[in-house]
Amino acid sequence: MIYLDNGATSFRKPDRVRRAVAEAMARCANPGRGGYGAAMAAAETVFRCREAAAEFFECEAEQVAFTSNCTHGLNIAIRTLVKPGGRVVVSGFEHNAVTRPLHGLGAELMVAGRKLFDWEDTLEEFDRALRQGADAAVFTHVSNVFGYILPVAEMAALCRERGVPFIIDAAQSAGTLPVSLKALGADFIAMPGHKGLLGPQGTGILLCGRMPEPLLLGGTGSDSINQRMPDFLPDRVEAGTVNVPGIGGLHAGIAYLRSVGMDGIHRREALQARRCGEGLERLGMRVFRGDHQSGTVSFVPGGDCEEAAAALARQGIAVRAGLHCAPLAHESAGTLETGTVRVSFGPDASPEQTRAFLRAAAKLPAMES
Ligand code: ALA
Repeated sequence: MIYLDNGATSFRKPDRVRRAVAEAMARCANPGRGGYGAAMAAAETVFRCREAAAEFFECEAEQVAFTSNCTHGLNIAIRTLVKPGGRVVVSGFEHNAVTRPLHGLGAELMVAGRKLFDWEDTLEEFDRALRQGADAAVFTHVSNVFGYILPVAEMAALCRERGVPFIIDAAQSAGTLPVSLKALGADFIAMPGHKGLLGPQGTGILLCGRMPEPLLLGGTGSDSINQRMPDFLPDRVEAGTVNVPGIGGLHAGIAYLRSVGMDGIHRREALQARRCGEGLERLGMRVFRGDHQSGTVSFVPGGDCEEAAAALARQGIAVRAGLHCAPLAHESAGTLETGTVRVSFGPDASPEQTRAFLRAAAKLPAMES
């Protein structure tokens, strides 16, 4: 199989990730719940990952909270910053993991910047919305559908300037592009462990620039006499037993990225996405591509997108079609009716993958010219 669905999850994890998961399963009991060897091994496994993540994302170890996925972290962050009915600025490319929790709170959404690959429009519209007054802003670093890399450093600076607390959704960037809690000054940055960070599914990280409100209440192995959640990090948002094998694997994923360097991965993925987009255009598909694009490219073929993805799957190519849980992004791009077929490269991106993909795509119906 040629796996081009890294936007959903990275698939072929480094060997050391699989080994670390197995080792944690074999060695670890419950972290923070005992002083015997297996409990201490679990505590150490979790702590070592926390430290590695803190170094990677430029923050203190206690600011790294483990979550079960990016959505979980976003829910904590949104519930902390947004009161029912609050006014929130979002980009035009948000995922349901952002928009559904906001709708659940009855928030008033100001959608700012809907032009793909256009930093000027994104920043102008974003600033215009902030100036109208907002309780919070939530924006993605990279669109999961189109691979548009938003100007998050500038958006963060605008939020800080206007005194608006903000959350960054790093679902598609963590592990591929630099993300620094210190440099961005974000209130929260949420990310999955299983995509660019190459960890197992069921892992995630919430970087906390401020004290969060807990979403889940329960035991933490600390301050047990207190019937409220601890008022210190990360315990405040880590009720119940964390995913120790997953966190062991996530640590190995981060260590792998540090050893090979993220830069090369991003360049390889982005180059193949560009080649793939150019090839698709030659085949007569409608392709969404431009400056500031990651290793993800979306296109619309002549026929139905889901059928196209199924046809590609029959030829051994794994891609994702439809709305990608991001109707807002599709509305912005004008593809809400059709959806798109999304091709998302991973760290193993290669010209061979692109050539094989394009050979298979050549059998799909093209757009009518
Ligand atoms: N949000 C993930 C995707 O874009 C699952 O496919």
